[in-house]
Amino acid sequence: MSNARMLPGGPVAEQILADVAERVAALKARGVEPALATILVGDDDASAGYIRIKQKQAAELGFVSPHAHLPATATQEDLHAAIKGFNDDPKVHGLLIQYPIPGHLDYEAALATMDPDMDVDGMHPLNMGRLALGMPGPLPCTPAGIEALLAFYEIPVAGRDVVILGRGATLGRPLSLLLSLKRPTANAAVTVVHTGVPDWADYTRRAEILIAAAGVPGIIQPEHVKPGAVVVGGGVRYEGRRLLPDVDESVEKVAGAITPRVGGVGPTTVAMLFRNAVAAAERATS
Ligand SMILES: NC(=O)c1ccc[n+]([C@@H]2O[C@H](COP(=O)([O-])OP(=O)(O)OC[C@H]3O[C@@H](n4cnc5c(N)ncnc54)[C@H](OP(=O)(O)O)[C@@H]3O)[C@@H](O)[C@H]2O)c1
Repeated sequence: MSNARMLPGGPVAEQILADVAERVAALKARGVEPALATILVGDDDASAGYIRIKQKQAAELGFVSPHAHLPATATQEDLHAAIKGFNDDPKVHGLLIQYPIPGHLDYEAALATMDPDMDVDGMHPLNMGRLALGMPGPLPCTPAGIEALLAFYEIPVAGRDVVILGRGATLGRPLSLLLSLKRPTANAAVTVVHTGVPDWADYTRRAEILIAAAGVPGIIQPEHVKPGAVVVGGGVRYEGRRLLPDVDESVEKVAGAITPRVGGVGPTTVAMLFRNAVAAAERATS
């Protein structure tokens, strides 16, 4: 039986999106039409579906979303031209390139072509640099969502022992930077473990807050968790439509608080995308 307090992402996302909607309304009141552009390359059904969901949510929040759909045969130059088209359009404030893109294209090079201030994913190298330096800028969405989730549930982070399993560019690495920043919702003692640390469980077992960011289904088992710890499941792998989280279901028996296997970090990630988008529109028009 589980005694763990559940930490769903839904209410956190709702609060963030309510703030976004208010800020969109304030922009419109001064004649600004906030615009989040999207680029899709190829005809992957899942990616097309994700873009449709984001566009629908953007419309509900009051954004316009100009869209470029490039064929699967698009060249790197075609992709860069589409990005530059949006960069140079003063009516566009935020830009999202749906990932993954076809294998013959270089995502990093495409990202580097984007105006960093329009980067709603917060993954542009300049924005990663800003994060590392503690400078303001768009934050990577999944790490920012996890920081917001911990703050929403009033889980103290400052001064606590936080261990992150995984140092990937999307999650573990930027989250380690974020949670070690000197600010009230962070300011933690952060340790990052990975395949280079064979005895990583020695670290996770002492964590007051354990964040799974490996993308290895079931890698976190009860014996890897300190009883009563806060466990955040960020890493997931998809097998078809089936979502396989890093954190095994049985961890609920030992954790003090835990994100649910479905509806945990995902909704906060999407909400942060729109927070970055409204901030981009505010910056561009202030
Ligand atoms: N929920 C969401 O909204 C959301 C959003 C974005 C990403 N994600 C998920 O977050 C996860 C991480 O994404 P990412 O792009 O940052 O990761 P990534 O680049 O795939 O990196 C995974 C990390 O986990 C470590 N790792 C893998 N297997 C391990 C093992 N057996 N023992 C110890 N460490 C291990 C790797 O170590 P090495 O560095 O040594 O290889 C690496 O640092 C993925 O599952 C992704 O799907 C979720």
